[in-house]
Amino acid sequence: MSADIHYILDFDSTLVRVETLELAAELAACDADSRERIRNITSQAMEGRMKFRRALTERLRLLHFHRDLLPQLAARLQLEITPSFARNHSFLASNAGRIHVVTSSFRTVVTPVVERLGLSAGHVHANSLTFDDAGYINGVDLSNPLSTDDGKSKVVAALGLPGEIAVVGDGWSDYEIFRSGVAQRFYAFTENVRRKPVIDVAQKIAPSFDEILHDCGERGALSYPKNRLKVLLLENIHAEAVAAFEREGCSVETVAGSLDETQLTQRLADTAILGIRSKTQLTERVLRSTKRLLAVGAFCIGTNQIDLEACGKMGVAVFNAPFSNTRSVVELALAEIILLMRGIPEKLRLMDAGVWDKSAKSASEVRGKRLGIIGYGNIGMQLSVLAESLGMEVSYYDIAEKLALGRARKCTSLEELLDNSDAVSVHVDGRRENAGMLGAREFARMKPGAVFLNLSRGHVADLDALYQQLESGRLRGAAVDVFPREPRANGEAFEHPLQRLPNVLLTPHIGGSTIEAQQDIGRFVSGRLVDFINTGSTENSVNFPELRLAPQVDAHRLIHVHENLPGILASINQALADHGANILGQYLKTRGNIGYVITDINRDYSDSLLEDIRHIPHTLRFRVLY
Ligand code: NAI
Repeated sequence: MSADIHYILDFDSTLVRVETLELAAELAACDADSRERIRNITSQAMEGRMKFRRALTERLRLLHFHRDLLPQLAARLQLEITPSFARNHSFLASNAGRIHVVTSSFRTVVTPVVERLGLSAGHVHANSLTFDDAGYINGVDLSNPLSTDDGKSKVVAALGLPGEIAVVGDGWSDYEIFRSGVAQRFYAFTENVRRKPVIDVAQKIAPSFDEILHDCGERGALSYPKNRLKVLLLENIHAEAVAAFEREGCSVETVAGSLDETQLTQRLADTAILGIRSKTQLTERVLRSTKRLLAVGAFCIGTNQIDLEACGKMGVAVFNAPFSNTRSVVELALAEIILLMRGIPEKLRLMDAGVWDKSAKSASEVRGKRLGIIGYGNIGMQLSVLAESLGMEVSYYDIAEKLALGRARKCTSLEELLDNSDAVSVHVDGRRENAGMLGAREFARMKPGAVFLNLSRGHVADLDALYQQLESGRLRGAAVDVFPREPRANGEAFEHPLQRLPNVLLTPHIGGSTIEAQQDIGRFVSGRLVDFINTGSTENSVNFPELRLAPQVDAHRLIHVHENLPGILASINQALADHGANILGQYLKTRGNIGYVITDINRDYSDSLLEDIRHIPHTLRFRVLY
């Protein structure tokens, strides 16, 4: 059926991102006032507020444009081809017979763009410029119907095209073709500009040419138009992420706060990508209510708020940002080590109380002191490097085998580290077994006069035991950023015995909370999600088998997520063999209950192959990328 559709494409702000006359004014170095007037007239004409012939004549009068500049104008226009048309070059070239460009712009500059897109110069219907004796444009050939009001409708009618006609354009004159009855479809094209009066009367709004091809049942450059992918971002996710999805052409909705279960089930019905932070609870019930959800982005570090098992069962990939705030935590830890060793917390309190106590007593530099890092992961290792650059002697203890960075020394036991460190900083992960790993016994083992920091998880340190060591003066000071019980919201009261001690720094779990970290989280998680949409890549996924994939080239990519049971790869390959599909590359990885198979195949295959794969038992998700 789609082969019966003929397409009528507009040129300015449709095939190219710009208006020819505005670009011409720029090249002719028109003064700012004339350029502004040209822009205004264009808007009025495009929105149906000024008759076309008058708009054209007035703009040409303002434009003092010499014919010698035409090659330059044509070259610039070729650089301005609208991305979704450029992307669909093969479609345009192989269907050039049923595509016409009907424009009030000028043949001499339109034709090179049209040919570059693989379309036929014979299918360009445009105005022809006229020049005065000095070679300046002084008008257009007035016998050409495109120079008249409603000229486009006349030209399309005269073409006498059989079958259905779809008009694609951003302006009122494009809509008039449809209104005149010669075309059956009109797509208001909004990739470059949104003209409200045109959108208001349009039958359909198309943010890209991909959308039009999809709507018309054609096989374009993309398997699925990106504007149909709805991205829902909750909890004030950073603007960097919003911009990343918009750049991809996705439809993005944002919500400032989190949503409860009922609100979520309503909003998620048609969502493909969900972005949350720590407050939104993604339960199995919510997940079951979704139909199109492909992936979830946790724009934070932790993923406790997400039922990962339920995501796995439904084939929904989850991504987070495990490293984005590493540096922020390290900087705070370093600052706190310095402040504690100088006795600054006590001095601050005295100053606040109006007491001047200028003395060097027990104020130390950190240079040459021993820092013991418990947990040599992302944060521990970075702290090691930066502390060393301040002249500290670093040792670390980790239950996993970790390569020592710089001159750092590995301890074979926690005791060895505690016995020898002037500052002890904990950076272990939140696994259950770590609860209370630093208690009375461990604090008692620390060197007298040492300082202690916990910026990892609240449950790893016994704060009552720490309190006793600090109050007695055996330990010099402490910095605590994480607590066994933390208020759920800002403004909620927080009380803890440590508040009574002068030699502690208490902070409200803000180790990783910086502008830079938030920005990096926005960039990192949206990047992983965009890669996942575009290539199927699952690098850094929290729950999916990790596959790092380059975009497919001259191939269609079949992405199959299934329950990790024996025989599924064999079933996929059987289906491929039955349909004679040519495999160009195949990757399989499993993790827990999820199996992930990516198969790149030659572009010639029947749609029934896809149906056969989709119906393989234990399939959780199946999508095709091209
Ligand atoms: P990571 O997973 O990269 O490193 C943790 C390291 O601790 C691993 O090398 C692991 O083998 C080791 N480890 C686990 N249990 C241990 C034990 N009992 N004894 C010795 N080593 C042990 O984690 P990353 O990214 O370095 O984060 C560290 C901690 O910091 C995490 O608990 C994280 O939740 C917390 N964090 C806190 C923030 C804050 O705002 N205060 C911000 C970011 C992270």
